[in-house]
Amino acid sequence: MNYRTEIAAIISTVTGLPASEADALIEVPPQKELGDYAFPCYALSKTLRKSPNAIATELSADPRFSDTWIEKAEAVGPYLNFFLDRGHVARTVLSRILDEDIRFGDSDEGEGKTVIVEFSSPNIAKPFHVGHAFTTVLGHSLSRIYKKLGYTVVRMNHLGDYGTQFGKLITAYRLWGDEQALLASPIDELLRIYVKFHEAEKEDPGLSDLARENFRKLEEGAPEEKALWEKFRDMSLKEFAAVYEKMGVSFDNYNGESFYSDRIPEVLGLLNEKGLLVESEGARVVMLEEYGLPPCIIIKSDGTTIYASRDLAAVMYRNETYRFHKNIYVVGLPQALHFKQVFAVLDKAGQPYAKDCVHVGFGLVKFKNMKFSTREGNIVVLDELLNESIAKTREIIKSNALIRETGMNDEHIDEIANKVGIGAVIYTYLRAGRERDIIFSWEEMLDFEGDSAPYLIYTYARTRSILRKADERGLLTDMRSEADFSLLISDDETGVIKLLAEIPDAVARAASTNEPFMVARLASQIARAFNRFYNNSSILSGTDIGLRAARLALCEAICTGLLICTNLLGIEVVEQM
Ligand code: ARG
Repeated sequence: MNYRTEIAAIISTVTGLPASEADALIEVPPQKELGDYAFPCYALSKTLRKSPNAIATELSADPRFSDTWIEKAEAVGPYLNFFLDRGHVARTVLSRILDEDIRFGDSDEGEGKTVIVEFSSPNIAKPFHVGHAFTTVLGHSLSRIYKKLGYTVVRMNHLGDYGTQFGKLITAYRLWGDEQALLASPIDELLRIYVKFHEAEKEDPGLSDLARENFRKLEEGAPEEKALWEKFRDMSLKEFAAVYEKMGVSFDNYNGESFYSDRIPEVLGLLNEKGLLVESEGARVVMLEEYGLPPCIIIKSDGTTIYASRDLAAVMYRNETYRFHKNIYVVGLPQALHFKQVFAVLDKAGQPYAKDCVHVGFGLVKFKNMKFSTREGNIVVLDELLNESIAKTREIIKSNALIRETGMNDEHIDEIANKVGIGAVIYTYLRAGRERDIIFSWEEMLDFEGDSAPYLIYTYARTRSILRKADERGLLTDMRSEADFSLLISDDETGVIKLLAEIPDAVARAASTNEPFMVARLASQIARAFNRFYNNSSILSGTDIGLRAARLALCEAICTGLLICTNLLGIEVVEQM
């Protein structure tokens, strides 16, 4: 249903230009008087030895361009402009969406292929901050996008649950830990003693030795140290789980760094076998100058492993276990060098799956005129952002009678505020290219008329309410048979229908570039185009039965389209607002 691709295919048959090249050249004209798509003929002028204008004129007469769904192909200067048969477009697109429902845009491109999406990966005993929320939202959306395309998706949470800091935590907990406080608010308590440890360490260097000793014991599996570590891990996980539940996110496994720390011998085995480990200032490293990268340290001079070694073990494990088609890491851009090094080491070791590993990076999170009770290091905790967003959404809905239906009770408003408030945060993370920095501002994220989740959800709910009213009047029973799609030919109608037709393509492109914003942007365009149509036309009060039924079918398709997109983004809609 991608008209651009289909036009490219015809251009290719007629002119011999490869379809992919034609596809890339096709433009959407700036004015609708110039048609729906335009093909600039310059590219053909060399091979055909004619001026682009002459080529355009000649091509416009070719009968193959007057397919059933192309109304006409017209030459304007060097351009060949295509006008779609609007009624035909309405009929094909809407019938398909109504038939396929939420499966519209599904594909089998991923059949038999496994994609690992590693995301979120917070650190045990540390607050879940807004940066971890970025990877969480992005990874969650990507996992849904790949799933829609037929891939087997494994969602992994690579918990930061290993490292020397746990020696410090164990030491600190024995000195100052408060069991009650730990039960009440685990991460706050663990953070408190961790900070305290660092202060105390400055005065008493003996503490550092103690911490190192405790970490060594932990690594050797000493029962008391291990029990404490497990306690910290379990309690932190419980707190993370609450955040995940709130956001509707789940994982297939939580194999964190500790899980892979046992598998370092495999890494060393491989690197030794390939003769790649070299000595450098007491450490063992892999040189990567041919990749233009600094050496990757595998074993530190004190014999301990590092983050990168555990990541190498993780890729090897994932390859063994899943034979992945792609292994995706949704991690902030500051770690780009780390991933380049890890992938380069694998490549140098001759591992073919190195090329299937992808670092999907993202930008920073900033705030405009927003105040939070920030903690150590100016960290903004996600939970606070979510709660504040929900509370503000509730206020807006309560104080603005225009955006809520009459007679709604408080409980219902709370439910809506919850979904809209959380959706607003999610959408802000996903609405632009992931490598750009995010700026949160209440005005924008909660603007019910802006490029926001509230706008999408409101549009969905409003459309649902039209359909509910139609249903009450018995207008939906024969909607499909009554609908005369050849009447849906106004600019507004065609505009929104063409956007709906783009959903499958947008999903596929979102996956190939790992950019969920492509789905977010389309959803927002669909909602805007639909509202334009809605404001300019009467839907329920129309007297022409064929037109009324066709418009109701369009409403139904809009709901399906918005639902598909919001689902892929991880945003929940509401049926009524
Ligand atoms: N826990 C790390 C952090 O919070 C992110 C882990 C990323 N994943 C990985 N495989 N290294 O910075």
